[in-house]
Amino acid sequence: MPLPFQQVWKSQDAVAIVTGASSGIGFELTRMLVNEGAHVVAVARRRERLIELANATSHPERVHCIAGDVTDAATREEAMRAADSLRDGELDLLVNNAGVGAIGPFADASPERMRRVMEVNFFAPVDWTRDAIPRLRLAAQKDVRPVVCNIGSVLGHRAVPDKSEYCASKFALHGWNDSLRAELVREGIGVTMVSPSTTRSEFFDSLVETEPDQKSNSIGSWPPARVAQATLTAIKRGRSEVILSLGGKALVYADRVSPPVMNGILAKRGR
Ligand SMILES: NC(=O)c1ccc[n+]([C@@H]2O[C@H](COP(=O)([O-])OP(=O)(O)OC[C@H]3O[C@@H](n4cnc5c(N)ncnc54)[C@H](OP(=O)(O)O)[C@@H]3O)[C@@H](O)[C@H]2O)c1
Repeated sequence: MPLPFQQVWKSQDAVAIVTGASSGIGFELTRMLVNEGAHVVAVARRRERLIELANATSHPERVHCIAGDVTDAATREEAMRAADSLRDGELDLLVNNAGVGAIGPFADASPERMRRVMEVNFFAPVDWTRDAIPRLRLAAQKDVRPVVCNIGSVLGHRAVPDKSEYCASKFALHGWNDSLRAELVREGIGVTMVSPSTTRSEFFDSLVETEPDQKSNSIGSWPPARVAQATLTAIKRGRSEVILSLGGKALVYADRVSPPVMNGILAKRGR
C-alpha cells in the first residue's frame, strides 16, 4: 500500500512559507516556487530585497513579503497570518532556510556568538515549525502531502574546527529534524533535510562576530540556484535527506567510514 509521503508534492497553487528569502538559496527557491504557480510568504529582514524578489518572479502578486527577524515572535505571527489568509489556514510547505554562520575558535568567542547562531539556525526553525504544524495538518486532510523542509549543512553531519557554533546549530537541527520526521510521517506530513556544502551566496558577508574576509575553503562550491533546484526536487520527491555536492558527500561518507581518520585530518588542516 503506498505510504502518504510517497504522494507527489505540487507547486501549482501551493501555499508556502520560505524564511531567508532575500538572498541566496531562499531567494532562488522562492522564485522557482512562484514561477511554478505557488503562493509564497517570503520572510527576511531586508524588505527592499524581498520586493526585488517579487519583481524577479513571473507573478509578483504571489509573493507575500514579511520583513522581520525570524527570531522575533511578531515576525512569525505575521507570516502565519499571511499564510492563513491564502487558503483557509492550510499550509503546504514550510522551508526553514534563514541561517547565519560564524568563523573562529570557540575559546576566543563571546557567549553571545553561540546564542545568536543557535537562535537563528535552531530555535527559529523549531518555533516556526511548532506554529506551522496545525496548518500542515489541515492541508494533510486534503489530497496533498505537506512538507517541512529544513536547510541544514554538511557541517550538521561532520563538525570541523573554527565553526563550533555553526556546527552545533546544524547538528541540533539535524537531530530534531529526524525525530520530527518519524513523528509526522503517520500524519502524512513529510520532513525533508537538505544539507548543502559551500554555496556562493551572501552567507560569508554576514557572519556573526567574525574577523573580516573569512571564507570557507571547500572545493567545488555550488551556485544558490543549483542548491534551490535540488531542494525543490527533494521536496517534490518526498526525500528524507539529501547531501549536496561531491565534496559534501565525500566529507560525510568518509566520516561515517572512519571518524578517527577524519578527526586526524581535520586537526591537522585547521579551518
Ligand atoms: N552558503 C553556504 O556555504 C551554505 C552551506 C551550507 C548550508 N547553508 C545554509 O543555507 C541557508 C541559506 O544560506 P545562503 O547560503 O542562501 O546565505 P545568504 O545568502 O546569506 O542567505 C541567508 C538568508 O537568511 C536571512 N536571514 C539571516 N538571518 C536572519 C534573521 N535573523 N531573520 C530573518 N532572516 C534572516 C537573510 O536575510 P536578511 O539578511 O535580509 O534578514 C538571507 O535571506 C542557511 O541556513 C545556511 O546555513 C549555506
